[in-house]
Amino acid sequence: MKRKICLVAGARPNFMKIAPLEKEISKHPNDFEKLLVHTGQHYDDEMSRSFFKDLNLQEPDIYLGVGSGTHAEQTGKIMIEFEKVCSQEKPDLIVVVGDVNSTLACSIVVAKLNIKIAHVEAGLRSFDRTMPEEINRIVTDSLSDFLFVSEKSGIANLHNEGVKPEKIHFVGNIMIDSLMTNIRAIKASKILKELELKEKNYCLMTLHRPDNVDHKKSLTEIYEILAFISKSVRIVYPIHPRTLKMLKTHHLLEKFNGLNNFDMLQPLGYFDFMKLVTEASFVMTDSGGIQEETTYLNIPCLTLRNNTERPITLEEGSNQLVGRDIKLIKKCVSDIVAGNVKHSHKPKLWDGKTAERIVKILRKKEVF
Ligand code: UD1
Repeated sequence: MKRKICLVAGARPNFMKIAPLEKEISKHPNDFEKLLVHTGQHYDDEMSRSFFKDLNLQEPDIYLGVGSGTHAEQTGKIMIEFEKVCSQEKPDLIVVVGDVNSTLACSIVVAKLNIKIAHVEAGLRSFDRTMPEEINRIVTDSLSDFLFVSEKSGIANLHNEGVKPEKIHFVGNIMIDSLMTNIRAIKASKILKELELKEKNYCLMTLHRPDNVDHKKSLTEIYEILAFISKSVRIVYPIHPRTLKMLKTHHLLEKFNGLNNFDMLQPLGYFDFMKLVTEASFVMTDSGGIQEETTYLNIPCLTLRNNTERPITLEEGSNQLVGRDIKLIKKCVSDIVAGNVKHSHKPKLWDGKTAERIVKILRKKEVF
């Protein structure tokens, strides 16, 4: 009998993790019936639709349209809507990815309906519970039946939390599947020309974590950092809607836009954004996924956080944690400009075959 798998995606960083799985599951129509649910946590064209197009991801079968809100509002709305879907569709398994509110909300719903859960990117821990994502990761993992792990720290963390070893599967990093599949289209992007940028001659920045962008004090510290870097390096910044909203709230948008050598852009699609990553002199970010993509691509990455749930990017990769420590950032940038950069090698199983490994495990008849 065919088993019904429900794939859940909600926010921008989910789409490149769901796309390879959707493709791989489609190769086995005799084993699986598949349903793609988009919660609508992210809904702007540039945050959602453009990724479906670039990643050649099928239209969602069901769109919940929950939109933004406080954590409780957003999580609650997703739970209410997703419970209706599960009651009607009766999936045998749901697959959730990453650590966003959609991941958490859908996991709680199906755990109580006794539907099995597979979590892709399980076991990552920042050990910082002030981050909403850390709560989402801990709860989702504690409810999951299949814990698909991307790096070795994930295995150790899950063991320490008492997860049964037979539930843990080290399968590698699914985002790298998307990157490898699309590398030609990424290389073909004309975004450098459009922005009149030269290879290895600019810094690409992304920032959206509440700790960095929600408060006037942290935004002012970031302004000082940018004012310093932009004296010697052009900075390109596709802005996240959350950050734009906060710059407006704190009346700082004009000040940021007044910086020389600083280009604030709309959020970009996958191909254009990844092209900017591949050709950057270095990247500054507080994103989780970009720490991994820069490690894979051997691009120096300064992470404006004090911790990371992805320690392999520090141990084997090109990533460095710099917080908002302007002295440290000045030193790192001077080193990079002088050609003294931290190189990476590709972590184990970041090889483009993660979706294949996951589906192989799920195809075993006895597992769900
Ligand atoms: C969410 C995830 C975060 C992830 C990030 C990637 C949670 C708790 N956080 O953070 O882990 O790194 O996505 O982007 O799930 N907004 C729009 N248009 C959109 C989406 C959001 O304007 O399409 C604005 C709204 O003002 C919203 C704010 O951005 O209130 C924040 O969106 P939300 O989904 O709550 O969290 P993110 O900061 O995007």
